[in-house]
Amino acid sequence: MTAAAIIGGSGLTNLKNLRITRREVMRTPYGEPSAPLVYGELAGREVVFLPRHGAGHTIPPHGVNYRANIWALKQTGVRYVIAVNAVGGITPGHLDAEKLVIPDQIVDYTYGRDHTFFGSDVQQVTHIDFTEPYCPELRRLLIEAANQAKLACVERGTYGATQGPRFESAAEIRRMERDGTDIVGMTGMPETGLARELALCYASVAVVVNPAAGKASGPISLKEIETNLESGMARVRQLLEHVIPLIAKA
Ligand code: HPA
Repeated sequence: MTAAAIIGGSGLTNLKNLRITRREVMRTPYGEPSAPLVYGELAGREVVFLPRHGAGHTIPPHGVNYRANIWALKQTGVRYVIAVNAVGGITPGHLDAEKLVIPDQIVDYTYGRDHTFFGSDVQQVTHIDFTEPYCPELRRLLIEAANQAKLACVERGTYGATQGPRFESAAEIRRMERDGTDIVGMTGMPETGLARELALCYASVAVVVNPAAGKASGPISLKEIETNLESGMARVRQLLEHVIPLIAKA
């Protein structure tokens, strides 16, 4: 049985520590996922990997077919989905690029994205509970794995999902801070909501790659993001090595 699905974000279009066994092209009622699903072995267990932005990192955050991605992962029969998200840091505890953040809340600032499986063609109006947007069980396992691997990790935080692809203005970040968000990224929604609609146990590992707009002097540095992405994703790979066995045991 496949232990978990991993959705890779910027900086994680392939998993170097994955021993690939097969690829599967999926079709869904919502179109094609970002890439063929990649099956392989990680820490001795089967996992399935999907690069959110496509195999060649060509799909922008607002162009990702989130419904097809989540639908395709649901069809594999996995229960656990680990999403990896590069983010900007907003609040003092969440600015440190050396730390991984396991967010526990989310605020949606995106628009115009296909955000639900329960659209106009449903038999009955459907609402889902989203009080705790991330699966507490998977969050706990991720935190346990980070501790095991001695990876610095912030155990909670509120993710603000923005539309992109541009970064935010300093005033937008100040507003987000007033709203209570700690980190900002462009891909958390609608992905998190769609996973809940399909009853997947979904949680995010956020990698801080820059101080959000206005949180450091001068403009956001793409060079800095690139450097932090590389070291951050190396830490994510270590975390995955530790969390997959924990998930398989759960
Ligand atoms: N804003 C939005 N998305 C991001 C950022 C940011 O500062 N850094 C990485 N993804």
